[in-house]
Amino acid sequence: MVMIMSKYIPVVGTDDLPVGTCKPFIISGISVIVAHLADGYHAVENRCSHANSPLITSKIYRGDQVACPIHGARFDLKTGAAKSPPAFTGLMTFPVRVENGRIEVAMPPTNISS
Ligand code: FES
Repeated sequence: MVMIMSKYIPVVGTDDLPVGTCKPFIISGISVIVAHLADGYHAVENRCSHANSPLITSKIYRGDQVACPIHGARFDLKTGAAKSPPAFTGLMTFPVRVENGRIEVAMPPTNISS
């Protein structure tokens, strides 16, 4: 059995990501969307599972979803699950925590696909 330890990486200050917003970041070479939803912080990969386009990160849909600008697929920002066609495979998700006013994202992801 192989154990892989996660490492939390500071990404952005909590003051820079108010509730109801999300932003893209490059973390350890992976493009990740960090979102601040009503229930807290979440992180998913910023790559549509349909045809690998970056997702729209300036708007949150239905309170907890992000959309693809190419064909309109939407993904759950909490679970990474695909919520509408033409995408049927989910996104990688990453654990998130807050330390000393900084949002930290763990690498590697804990969920490769849903
Ligand atoms: S590339 Fe994202 S829905 Fe097609």
